[in-house]
Amino acid sequence: MRLYKAGNYNEMSRMAANIISAQVIIKPASVLGLATGGTPLGTYKQLIEWYKKGDIDFSEVTSINLDEYIGLSNAHRQSYHYFMHENFFNHININPNNIHLPDGTANDLEKACIDYDALINDTGGIDLQLLGIGTDGHIGFNEPGPAFEPTTHVVSLTESTIKSNTRFFSSEENVPKKAITVGIRTIMQAKKILLIVNGNNKADILKEALYGCITPALPASILQLHPDFTVIGDEEAFSKL
Ligand code: F6R
Repeated sequence: MRLYKAGNYNEMSRMAANIISAQVIIKPASVLGLATGGTPLGTYKQLIEWYKKGDIDFSEVTSINLDEYIGLSNAHRQSYHYFMHENFFNHININPNNIHLPDGTANDLEKACIDYDALINDTGGIDLQLLGIGTDGHIGFNEPGPAFEPTTHVVSLTESTIKSNTRFFSSEENVPKKAITVGIRTIMQAKKILLIVNGNNKADILKEALYGCITPALPASILQLHPDFTVIGDEEAFSKL
């Protein structure tokens, strides 16, 4: 496990973008596992800036997103499809055929999960997985529970996640209660994992995840076992370490 403390959110974002761009420069046909949420926004912004300057080429990259709400169309402003296009894909030269997110609108969700795992397998696996962490310790939408779920699955979001995601919706009632997420095995099989964390509200859970017991009650704790695991956090998130 490697820890890098950044002074603030912008510095954290720049450091994360550096690692992602190094990955893409070294292996242009990289498979990037990507996350949504507030944490990676600055990272995507920085990558877009470097792309526009001509410093990175995403034309051969494949992207695999971690998760998607169930029941929101791709065009819904709060869907993760929309988020990723709005905040990243529309601004870089990634091939649209190489962009993948779970299908939260599928009639047969079980099949959609199996298909997503098969697709990840077909890409040859994720080279670099970017992660954020929820205040309850979730990664992707793998919520605290009795066991680590290995594969892509449908999940009921916890109260804490619904509350925390209400900031993106007009009211708590409008936050979808279910999502599709890749499983813990898929995340752990990524060749490299990059966790980015900012803010005081993540300080306790980050400490517990990195130095506490490895338990499905805190899904991010399993990252301690990954052989190539990097954490970049701002001063606030690292304040309890
Ligand atoms: C999003 C995802 C989630 C977020 C986590 C933190 O695709 O997988 O695990 O990374 O909920 O969200 P923010 O960054 O909004 O605090």
